[in-house]
Parts: sequence; structure tokens; C-alpha cells
Amino acid sequence: MSTRPFIPYARQSINAADIAEVGRALSGDVITRGACVEAFEKAMALYCGAQYAVAFNSGTSALLAAGYAAKISASDCLITTPNTFVATVAMGMQRQAAPILVDIDRDTGNLDLQQVEHTLAERRSSRGKTIIAPVHFAGIPVDMQRLDRMVRSPDAVVIEDAAHALGSRYLDGQMVGCCAWSQMTIFSFHPAKTITTGEGGLVTTNDPDLYHRLRLFRNNGIERDPSRLRADVSAQYNGYYETQDLTCNYNFTDFQAALGLSQLQRIDQFIVKRRELMSHYRRLLHEVPNIRLFTADHDAKTAFHLCVMQIDFAYYNISRAQVIAQLREEGVGVQVHYIPLYRHPCFQRACGDISEYFPNMEGYYAQALSFPLYYDLSMEDVEYVVQKLKDILAKSLQKKHSSASRPARGRRRRL
Ligand SMILES: Cc1ncc(COP(=O)(O)O)c(C=O)c1O
Repeated sequence: MSTRPFIPYARQSINAADIAEVGRALSGDVITRGACVEAFEKAMALYCGAQYAVAFNSGTSALLAAGYAAKISASDCLITTPNTFVATVAMGMQRQAAPILVDIDRDTGNLDLQQVEHTLAERRSSRGKTIIAPVHFAGIPVDMQRLDRMVRSPDAVVIEDAAHALGSRYLDGQMVGCCAWSQMTIFSFHPAKTITTGEGGLVTTNDPDLYHRLRLFRNNGIERDPSRLRADVSAQYNGYYETQDLTCNYNFTDFQAALGLSQLQRIDQFIVKRRELMSHYRRLLHEVPNIRLFTADHDAKTAFHLCVMQIDFAYYNISRAQVIAQLREEGVGVQVHYIPLYRHPCFQRACGDISEYFPNMEGYYAQALSFPLYYDLSMEDVEYVVQKLKDILAKSLQKKHSSASRPARGRRRRL
């Protein structure tokens, strides 16, 4: 049992300036849907290089808003990866669109674009819109230019799930979220993410109509713009509004926005540190057999959200559950990202066991484990984590070898 402070797999970094900014926002007259929210949206749009940004109370709400803005309906389908959080696909399924899951590339954890191309070719004559939702898994950017070349139908809508990827850059150097090859991009500000607002999310877009619908969705479908009201405004009082669609309350508060603005001041620091930590993991694991990290090809463009290892547990004669439990005893937290979407009961009820169609996802899932990665983690913490992992695996391997070289009991008796 370790006596060191526990090292979680993820953790927010909150400093005195963050706390002061939240305090300032809380002492203002307006603490929700006020000037701080607008300033945060402007700052995020500028950071990503998009025209518009709309903030929500979670990344999940941001995805649902994108589904509403894109008018996803029952005649549509949504193509995405099984290696994601359920909210990515909920964006389509809550609007009765058919989910189509595509296998992944084990070098990046992202969608296998060749398989996306096949799926799009099969869909070419289908009715309804095709929604494509690439997820920049762990922060590694999907090749959006290549995806864009495949998407030839005018009825296709691309919505990027960049919950992991704030601060990452595409191959051409533009920021994730600029929407150069998509209609919308969503982000999450959950405490595990690059910057946090407690809970929170945001959508960027360059399309004024989508921007308008995103804002409508956020606040119970309420319209206040006189030019868009159905009633004759000249006959109405100041403050008159109409509910044009039933949605829900997904509003973001001013004190969350104040935290977001303050965190944005340090985003470059956060990204650099996360990248350095990943490089350190790479160095320390370089010669460890049967442990694989994602390709380093995109490291310079990736704002790392997760440090995922693919460990051949069978080779080390140990289960993932045992590794998780033993690391916990040593004071190290880890997580699994992700249980394949199709393994969850909400999918299995509809389509049964379809795991055989996802050999890469299955192979990845059998080996995946996410290790600590966050701004306040030290290089020495990383060394401790890797050493503990190596010790656990070496001990198990030694047991395997010593039981293989020991003569079997029955045979010994015969001798
Ligand atoms: C890929 C992905 N999409 C969407 C979300 C939803 O974000 P939130 O937790 O802010 O609702 C998450 C959250 O972890 C995520 O990892």
C-alpha cells in the first residue's frame, strides 16, 4: 500500500486567479446568460478560428444542440466511431436517426477513414441526410481534409466531436474547431478536459442559421428577435417572446464563463505540459514489450487529453482488472476509454451482439487503459506510475515463467 498522495487519471488545475475571477462574476448583478458568457463565446470563437460559438451547460448538451441545429430526423443516419462516449451517438439517436458505427484505426483510436469511405459509398442512394460525427479521440485530430474529400453529398452534415481536442491542430495547422471542413464542432469543459468550467460545453460554427438554432435550443426554444417573431411586435410589450420549439434549459452561467475565460489564459501552458508528460511516457515505455502507445506522428499537433496504453495483458499473464486493482493499491488511478458503444445494453437491445464486425475496436478494447495525464502531474509522478506498472507486469510474468519451468505435480509423483 502506497503512502504517497493518490494520483488520479485526470484532474483539473484551478489557481488563485481562477477563483478570483469566479468570485468577481458571482458578485455581479447578472450571474447567468450575461456579459461573461458572451465574452467567453467570443474568446473561444477567436481561439478556434470560427465565426460563432455558443456555450452550453455540458458537452452532452452541446451535442444535442448540434443535432437540433442540423435538423437530424428519423430518416437520417449518423456515422460515428464505437470508441467514444455515448453522447456522440445520442445526438442522432435521440432524434431517431439510425446509428452506423465504423471500426477504428488502432494507431490513433480514431475512425478508420477507409471504412468511412466504404460506408458513405453504400449510403449514396439512401434517403435522408448522412451525419458524420468524427471524434478526435484523446486529442489526436482526425484527417478532416481527407474526410471532406469523401463527403460528396450536399445532404451530408459533418459534426466534429472535439470534446477531447481543444487546442489540437489539423494537419494543415488550423485549430480544431475552425469548422473549415465541418458544419459544427463541439467541445466539453468537464474537469478532465484541457480547460474546465466545472461542467460545460460549446459549439463552434461559421453558419449564421446554425448559430441561431443553437441559441434557440439552449434556452427552451425561446425567440426574442423581433424580426423572427410570428406575432406582430408593434402590438406587443417590451420583453415579449415566443417559444418556437420545445427544447429544454441548457444555459451556461456567468461564473462558469468567468472560469473558462481565466482558464483560457493558461491553455498554452496546459497543452505544452500535457505534451511533455506524453513524451516522458513515451521515453519510459520505449523498450517495454507488448505495450503500445498511439502513433507519435501527430504529437506536435495534439493537445493530449488522454494517455492511452494498449497492453497485451495475455502476454503478461494478468487481467486488466488485476492491473487496475494493483495500481490502485499503489495509489494510481486509471480508466478505460472506451467500452465500445455497441456493447452497452441500450444498443444490444436493438441490434444484439455485433462485436464481430469490429475487430480493431475489440482488439483495442481488450488492451486499452488510460494513465494519469493532467497539468499538475509531475515528471516524477509519471516515473512512479510507469515503475509501478512495470513492477506489476514483471511480477506476473515471473510467476508465469516459474510455473512453466516447475515440473507438474502429477509428473513429480511419478518420478
Ligand atoms: C468524446 C466525448 N464526447 C462528448 C462528451 C460529453 O461531454 P460532457 O461530459 O461535458 O457532457 C464527452 C465527455 O466525456 C466525451 O468524452
